[in-house]
Amino acid sequence: MPDLLGLRGVAGEQILAWIRHARAMQEILQRPVAKVPALRGRRIALMFFENSTRTRMSFELAAKSLGADVLNFSASGSSLAKGETILDTAKTISALGADCMVVRDGHSQMPAYLSQHLEEPVINAGDGTNEHPTQALLDLCVLAQLWQGRFEDRLLVIVGDVARSRVARSHLWAAHALGHRVRLVGPRQFFEPGLVEAFGCELTSDLDAGLRGADAVMALRVQKERRQQGGPWLSSQLDYFRTYGLTRARLQQRGEAVPLLHPGPVNRAMELAPDLLYDADRSQIQTQVQTGVALRMAVLYWALGGSDEQIVERVHAGT
Ligand code: CP
Repeated sequence: MPDLLGLRGVAGEQILAWIRHARAMQEILQRPVAKVPALRGRRIALMFFENSTRTRMSFELAAKSLGADVLNFSASGSSLAKGETILDTAKTISALGADCMVVRDGHSQMPAYLSQHLEEPVINAGDGTNEHPTQALLDLCVLAQLWQGRFEDRLLVIVGDVARSRVARSHLWAAHALGHRVRLVGPRQFFEPGLVEAFGCELTSDLDAGLRGADAVMALRVQKERRQQGGPWLSSQLDYFRTYGLTRARLQQRGEAVPLLHPGPVNRAMELAPDLLYDADRSQIQTQVQTGVALRMAVLYWALGGSDEQIVERVHAGT
């Protein structure tokens, strides 16, 4: 059974296949009864050892929309508090009959570690500062729509806390596979050494220069919880907003608004001007959340052995 631990080393064709499958799933989600029995009788375990709203709820909705049962695990209230390890927790959930494990954890590589000890496919729902592959894939679904399916020669500008961002890392691997350019923008202390060399991306600390020529802009959350509270990493939230906050004026490039993405959750008036958040003409944020359900349906279906042809057949057969 296949795991989805990250986008590192994943071929462009596979990424495009997930995007294509997600489009078929979107068709299912638009039906009056937005549900098919494609994974009926299968059990999807959602193992979230770290907080989540979007990823967790969209995986749950995705599993239910495919007719699967969901085993919901939350760290709070679990036997972790009695000293049970994450591996033993996963083994317990495996014994309960899970067919697939969706794992979020604050430690990088925890899904990879669990996959070495489990028979079931493991899907990474965000691990530490390593990767968040399904977030990047759903963003790419949105970009595929905006860019008419053509990634080559496009420029995605990513603004913000790159060093702590698993979303940015998944995007950098995906760009390597799909052939679009990525430009990183932010204060120097938000970049780790070696990024340009490792990924061949562009990098600047000047936001206005960094936005030039962008085909889409993605702001990243400043990960306060992963940074030393009150530490020297930023002078102030207001300073950050003045220097790196995205506003209508800044997004107005070449006389038209550049599409704005953000994986969420957003720090209002830090990464974005609050009036942009739900401005449907500029912001793709709500579309990203909606697309997450279809993309996660495609990934769950793939992880449990469904094929491209089966998805298309099922969509047309209405099953
Ligand atoms: N983008 C994202 O992973 O959001 P959640 O933490 O709410 O799942």
